[in-house]
Amino acid sequence: MSLQYTKWIGKQRYHFAEIDSTNKKAKELAATGATHGTLITADTQTAGVGRRGRSWSSENETGIYMSLILRPKLKPDKASMLTLVAALAVVKAVTELLKIEQSETTLQIKWPNDIVINGKKICGILTEMILNQNQMDAVVIGIGVNVANQSFPEELADIATSLYLETGVKLDREQLINRVWEQFELYYAVVMEKGDLRDCKVEYESFLANKDEKVKILDPIGAYTGIAKGITNTGELLVDTGTKIEQVASGEVSVRGIYGYV
Ligand code: BTN
Repeated sequence: MSLQYTKWIGKQRYHFAEIDSTNKKAKELAATGATHGTLITADTQTAGVGRRGRSWSSENETGIYMSLILRPKLKPDKASMLTLVAALAVVKAVTELLKIEQSETTLQIKWPNDIVINGKKICGILTEMILNQNQMDAVVIGIGVNVANQSFPEELADIATSLYLETGVKLDREQLINRVWEQFELYYAVVMEKGDLRDCKVEYESFLANKDEKVKILDPIGAYTGIAKGITNTGELLVDTGTKIEQVASGEVSVRGIYGYV
């Protein structure tokens, strides 16, 4: 089941009807020499992993659960840029498949990498690095998309939604997988050529939730508020606090609009 529309992603592909976590599998395969562009997909995950140790609900044949192995020539501190690239690729693919005009939709990226629609999350991205003596050996980009879910467990219902619930359209999951990686290849090429996000920054910012609005930065060393202005060429969020422009790096920090999750 090699991907149709891509040049190099998913030409080597492992598909599982059920697996614990595609990210876990990708890391195992990367450690045993899997090549750049290897894709792992599953119909369901029994132990899907989210950011900050959370779990990722993975209803059977309802969402997309996939992980890509990359071997980029990048310093480890630049790997987070690839997460932003993945977010942009998902937004572009969904926008195109649903044929939604950006001006008419609320499909947005909640920096750095959650995709939200009408204020609720439809996609999460978990990027993990495999280092060898502090050098980048591989990066695994795990993407979960809520495609056709009709409902969510009570504890997620306030923040999670699916493309089907928001649009009434049941996208073909295989088609979406193909389109996401087709887009990713395009952005990845320009980012690797320039070494940063300069050529896709404007496009990323056009989808940025809370742009020019007040956000709260939940920094472990102290929360503060400011106006989200955009991103830097390397993907930090620019926040105008009134006295200075902070460059917020992803990682331990999370960002909220002042009204709830997004
Ligand atoms: C988040 O917390 O928002 C990130 C969620 C990432 C979930 C995806 S589903 C496919 C891949 N395999 C995993 O175990 N996690 C990622």
